[in-house]
Amino acid sequence: MDFDRIIDRFGTHSQKWDMMEKTYGVPASDGLAMWVADMDFQPPRCVSDALQGMVDHGIYGYYGDDRSYLNAIRWWMQERHGWRVEPEWVFTTHGLVNGTAMCVDAFTDPGDGVVIFTPVYHAFARVIKAAGRRVVECPLRHEDGLYRMDFDAYDAAMDGSEKMLILCSPHNPGGRVWTREELQDVADFARRHDLVLVSDEIHHDLVMPGHTHIPMANIDERIADRLVMMTATTKTFNIAGAHSGNVIIADETLRARFAARMSALGLSPNSFGLVMAEAAYSPEGAAWVDALVDYLDGNRRLFDAGVNAIPGLASMPLEATYLAWVDFSGTGMDKGEFTARVERDARIAVNHGPSFGQGGETFLRFNLATPRIRVEEAVARLQDAFADLQ
Ligand SMILES: Cc1ncc(COP(=O)(O)O)c(C=O)c1O
Repeated sequence: MDFDRIIDRFGTHSQKWDMMEKTYGVPASDGLAMWVADMDFQPPRCVSDALQGMVDHGIYGYYGDDRSYLNAIRWWMQERHGWRVEPEWVFTTHGLVNGTAMCVDAFTDPGDGVVIFTPVYHAFARVIKAAGRRVVECPLRHEDGLYRMDFDAYDAAMDGSEKMLILCSPHNPGGRVWTREELQDVADFARRHDLVLVSDEIHHDLVMPGHTHIPMANIDERIADRLVMMTATTKTFNIAGAHSGNVIIADETLRARFAARMSALGLSPNSFGLVMAEAAYSPEGAAWVDALVDYLDGNRRLFDAGVNAIPGLASMPLEATYLAWVDFSGTGMDKGEFTARVERDARIAVNHGPSFGQGGETFLRFNLATPRIRVEEAVARLQDAFADLQ
């Protein structure tokens, strides 16, 4: 659990590090990669040992007998989230972007509207559009430095062609842990407009002290017939390259539709992802996550203190995730100017706000899941790059 250890990721096909210069022009020589949402930490020993066990065995055949894998999911969801999952509810997809795309495919038709609360994880809009469906953006309200939902406005914007709602809970990029009341409002909204509700809870384990994530499945039994839950080990344990996620559906009718799409696309599980996930969902994995969250909490405190001290910059308080969402609107600079100062002057690669949809225009997203010394360096560089505002 040495989160301070710097591990060189260059030359490992790391999107975050090996594509930084090409994507942003931030030099590999001394740039800081704070974009793609993976971590610069090794996963817990139990995960690496499980993979090593496969390597030692040396035969990489098709996966079968998923009982222990499903039991591990069941244990984790009950133990960590107080959520009861039955083995037959679980579909394993090729990650959760794939899971989202499969839901769009299974539960909507071309031309249908799919609602998202923006700004939100950019792949939602991408897969909705690519499938020939309509993205219906419902902007979050930026209020007292936090995002809130505005259901009066959303009700007025619906025209009846919407068939699905994709919720990001906890929220990427705003870092909100939605409250029970907010989640109930989402559930009511889905019922009112007869929407399938897909709840992407990939960030549910990375919740900062003082906040509690509530699984959408525990909010209201009346939405069980329209609810699709999505979870994964990949974000929590930094094994995104394993590309595996779980789409969990209690309702039999929705399950049959999803199963039909899985079958039509010929999808079957990736052994590496499942073996690592099973090892991760264990007491050892849980202890590692607790230590990780503690470390991330330290990083975000340090980052927020340094960044919020720069006049005109405001980092949204992170209730969950390791993705800091920083508003530059107070600088009075246009996007080109503040982005150039971050990329060219501070040499930090970040995600650009507009890619997250309406409301992201004045923001940049910084990934803080890296050894603390790099977060300190990023803060110092930002303070230099905006020194004229101090
Ligand atoms: C909300 C959300 N869903 C899904 C993903 C990616 O999922 P996967 O790597 O399993 O496709 C991310 C990655 O950042 C995310 O933030």
